[in-house]
Parts: sequence; structure tokens; C-alpha cells
Amino acid sequence: MDRDALLAEARAVRDRAYAPYSGFRVGAALLGASGRVYVGCNVENASFGLTICAERSAVVAAVAAGETRFQAVAIVTDSEGPVAPCGACRQVLAEFEPKLEVWSEGGGVQGGWRLDQLLPEPFRELPERGR
Ligand code: THU
Repeated sequence: MDRDALLAEARAVRDRAYAPYSGFRVGAALLGASGRVYVGCNVENASFGLTICAERSAVVAAVAAGETRFQAVAIVTDSEGPVAPCGACRQVLAEFEPKLEVWSEGGGVQGGWRLDQLLPEPFRELPERGR
């Protein structure tokens, strides 16, 4: 699956975001090592701190389906340009794939990074297991 196809999955799931408080919808599509795609959107709550970001909800879906190795994540937001994942999501993604490709689109503009650029020194308690 190429970058455009993964971004299209993220764009589609952005429409299912539950973001009545911020009005800022985010969709994420995580490409597993198997080639399967796991999607997530942000889900807000009246108690704002309980909000879960799109990227972390995609990770939860993937792990629940039994997949823990990933090729790339695509993120599509309501922003005017590509946005990078928040710090919490960087740490959660790095748990599984510290060098993950991160592709982002906002306002029709695309950008990308490698996760180790965005989070060079993730916290880890376990050894890297060759990742
Ligand atoms: N949000 C994400 O879903 N992913 C991020 O990486 C940053 C922020 C969500 C959380 C909240 O629902 C809204 O965007 C505004 O912060």
C-alpha cells in the first residue's frame, strides 16, 4: 500500500471522529507489517483529559487484532497543513516501531517524518528487541 492509499484511509476515518469540544477531527491509519490497515479517530469526552487521540486509537485497534509491527502511519487532520503527532502518541508509537514512517496531510498539503526524528529518545524499560 502506498502513501496516497494510506492517507485516503485516514481521511475516511477522520469523518468518524468524535470531536464536539475542539471541532478538530483527526483520522489515523496504521499500516501493519502484514499489510493490514488499522484505523482510529480522536474520541473526545466532556471530561476533556479523557480524550484519546486518533493515533493511539489506531494502535489499540492493531494490538487488539494481534499486530504489533508497523510500516507507516498516516494522519489526516482539519489543520491547514500537515501536523505531527502529539508527544503522547509519539511515545506510544515508539513502543512498537521507533523508526516508523509518519505521513501527514492537512488542507491538501502533505508532509512526512520518521518517528525517531520526532522522538529521538523514547522512554523504554524493555530492551529494544531489534527494533
Ligand atoms: N489529537 C489527535 O487526535 N492526535 C494528535 O496527535 C493531536 C491531537 C486530537 C485530540 C483532540 O481531540 C483534538 O485533536 C484537539 O487537540
